[in-house]
Amino acid sequence: MGLEKFVIEGGRPLKGEVTVSGSKNAALPILAATILAEGPCDIGGVPVLRDVDVLARILGELGVKIERGATGRVAAQVVSEDKSFAPYELVSMMRASFCVLGPLLAKRGYAKVSLPGGCAIGDRPVDLHLKGLRALGADIKIEHGYVIAKADKLRGTNIYLGGPSGSSVLGTGNVMMAAVLAEGTTIIEHAACEPEVVDLANFLIAMGASIDGAGSHRIKIRGVRRLEGCEYNVIPDRIEAATFLMAAAATGGEVIVRNIEPTHLEAVIDKFREAGLGFNRNCKTVAMSGKVRPKEVELTTLPYPGFPTDLQAPMMALMALGQGATVFTDLIYPERLHHVAELKRMGARVIRVNNTCVVIGVDKLQGAPVMASDLRAGAALVIAALCAEGETHLRRIYHIDRGYENFEGRLLSLGAKIRREPDEAPEKPPVV
Ligand code: EPZ
Repeated sequence: MGLEKFVIEGGRPLKGEVTVSGSKNAALPILAATILAEGPCDIGGVPVLRDVDVLARILGELGVKIERGATGRVAAQVVSEDKSFAPYELVSMMRASFCVLGPLLAKRGYAKVSLPGGCAIGDRPVDLHLKGLRALGADIKIEHGYVIAKADKLRGTNIYLGGPSGSSVLGTGNVMMAAVLAEGTTIIEHAACEPEVVDLANFLIAMGASIDGAGSHRIKIRGVRRLEGCEYNVIPDRIEAATFLMAAAATGGEVIVRNIEPTHLEAVIDKFREAGLGFNRNCKTVAMSGKVRPKEVELTTLPYPGFPTDLQAPMMALMALGQGATVFTDLIYPERLHHVAELKRMGARVIRVNNTCVVIGVDKLQGAPVMASDLRAGAALVIAALCAEGETHLRRIYHIDRGYENFEGRLLSLGAKIRREPDEAPEKPPVV
């Protein structure tokens, strides 16, 4: 299939209701954890996304049969344990697939997994993953771009997993998935606290693991001999939920977002409040009314429960039409700013000083040909285009398909003027 683009005609307030899908960033490690199961797993809320398809292909290579039933639930069953090789061709398409390493090592004692490789949002090392697995007793070598890990038996121990910008989400997940079958008790200090880490822990517990403290910086895992299959439902996608709320606010619309977990978005909702946005929350919905232009705020991204880096770009699109000057600093991925140049092409005023951006609100944006460089940058450009005068042609939307299920279909249902069409224009080499 050739490349595609979105053609968006802006200027229509979004109106109506939208239901949030299951969380991509919870579903991916949960699917990887099915490698550990001695029986079938039945998982609900796995979103229909490119990243999920890529992981399903990798798991297929690793002997885990993944099938999506008519109800949308995903059945996962280990059918063979012969091959523990995750090739570069697939791992390089989706970094999160690196989290098959922990479960392979724990369950099969051997794994050969490609290093993830480069990423548009910045430097993304895996040293913390390897540090944790080595601490559990794995013999790990890096050869020709591959991690080769061996361990007859992993042994529980204390592991400090803090890194230069705090804890690692998938690093915590990888080590947790290895420690559940280790001999003895493991304590992960400075673990990531994201809701996706808690969801993975709950899935492992549903399979029979013994884990305490998920959601805090100190996770205690008592190794068990085996894990069974289970039935489980993935949490809603907090990043997708907030993206729809920001789109509603930016277009001056009235949108009710359903199947949302507001407690997973406290820092974001607090920023909405600070910006003077009109919204109502209750336990499973948030209604956004974008009647007011957001007031300037200061925004720094942090590990959970701080403001998530994955919402930095969509929030920047919203504040491009805000009042005054909003300051953005991304402490997690300081170089995650490829959307800035594209927003400026649409008339946004952004002053960048090293990794800090000052966004000076403008009265209007203009439609323009722009390009997505990564998933969340793509979402930001969709939000900007929905507000802009005239038409925007947004290219490289394959980035968006990685993390937003049926994005244009749901925006259409909220009254947006958006269509997907083949992108005839020749593909330019990415600007480095
Ligand atoms: C997860 O990536 C998410 N991906 C990312 O979402 C998200 O941006 C990120 O967490 C931070 O919230 C998934 O869950 C699939 P990290 P992850 O390891 O786990 C440094 C999206 O848009 N670090 O928590 O790979 C790293 O450089 C994606 O959906 C090390 O130094 O991120 C970064 O600065 C993009 N050494 C920080 O930690 C390591 O070994 C946080 O990274 C690992 C990470």
